[in-house]
Amino acid sequence: MRQTALPAGLVSLADHEHHAHRALAPAVWAYVSGGAADEITLRANAQAWQAIDLLPRVMRRLAGGHTRVKLLGREWPHPIFVAPMAYQRLAHPHGEQATALAAASLGAGLVLSTQASTLLENVACTFLPEPDRGPLWFQLYLLPDRGFMKTLVQRAEAAGFEALVLTVDAPVQGARDRERRAGFRRPADITAVNLAGRVAPAARTLKHGQSKLFDDLMTHAPTWDDIAWLRSITSLPVLLKGVVHPDDARQALVCGAAGLIVSNHGGRTLDTMPATAALLPRVLQAVAGDAPVLVDGGIRRGTDVLKAMALGAAAVLVGRPVLHGLANAGATGVAHVLRLLRDELEIAMALTGCVTLADAPGVLASSGD
Ligand code: FNR
Ligand code: LAC
Repeated sequence: MRQTALPAGLVSLADHEHHAHRALAPAVWAYVSGGAADEITLRANAQAWQAIDLLPRVMRRLAGGHTRVKLLGREWPHPIFVAPMAYQRLAHPHGEQATALAAASLGAGLVLSTQASTLLENVACTFLPEPDRGPLWFQLYLLPDRGFMKTLVQRAEAAGFEALVLTVDAPVQGARDRERRAGFRRPADITAVNLAGRVAPAARTLKHGQSKLFDDLMTHAPTWDDIAWLRSITSLPVLLKGVVHPDDARQALVCGAAGLIVSNHGGRTLDTMPATAALLPRVLQAVAGDAPVLVDGGIRRGTDVLKAMALGAAAVLVGRPVLHGLANAGATGVAHVLRLLRDELEIAMALTGCVTLADAPGVLASSGD
């Protein structure tokens, strides 16, 4: 993979975003950066992390401090994951391969999208040999062709993926106004290569007054019962992404979910959902320590990571900034984004007096310690 040089002057994730805006074609920019409808949730996510205040402790002994975390029975270098994002070759020709290379060398976790534009086996071959790597997980949308889904899960398992992430918040795409306004069309040569060969159900003939959404598409949408089926075909832990209601969180655990990802899909599905920083505490309370709860949406600073961990998250996922880095300089750009975030996390820990992330809850201004 030929490496691209990093453009000068990028020192934050916001710098990467500004640069990527100029680097990407307007329609691709709309796809990557846009959210649903009025983008209220999209904006709320970042604002909610910013609005949490930190109250530092000083003069503590910080020597030997570290960012390590334990997750699903293993220890990892730090709590930052790359969120699953479709069609990364839109942002750079090296796409998911570049993201995998960068994430592995920076010790970040990687969740590969079902709709990746690169074969999952190739991503695993790039990611897994790195000795200091983070976790490698595979994201799923449950598609109607169950025979195909079973083969896909078996492929992911055979390739070395360590957990499955079932995304449950997008049975249909949100109203992506910005994307439609920009006339985004996916180029014919960028496809969901891992889904090649699946059989789509034949469209139903609708009677007068029936709805295309409810009487056709939603007749194939997954329900809680399908978690049992998924668990029956794999020995990998299954996490659910997009669970936000406390009752759904409990139900997920009853169905055997190994963990949850609190997410509003980066504001891309249902607009006017609360920010994930507001949703996380309620889900954590419902889960009551029975399973790890991760969070994503609007994480743009090391202080945001620290705040998420302080609230009780087991780890965080970062979406768009990774695509910005990818657009700016391929693997080098993604590595830079992840490096910035990790460095900022270490600085934030040192400046708040956290030796490990277990100390984080005590540095929220509202913690009362
Ligand atoms: C996504 N997201 C997503 N989620 C998922 O489960 N499967 C997918 O294929 C995708 N695809 C996707 C494409 C693009 C371009 C974006 C921006 C996002 C959602 C993603 O995993 C994550 O939840 C959010 O992106 C997190 O928010 P931030 O960090 O982008 O604010
Ligand atoms: C998206 C879908 C792929 O957010 O999850 O674009």
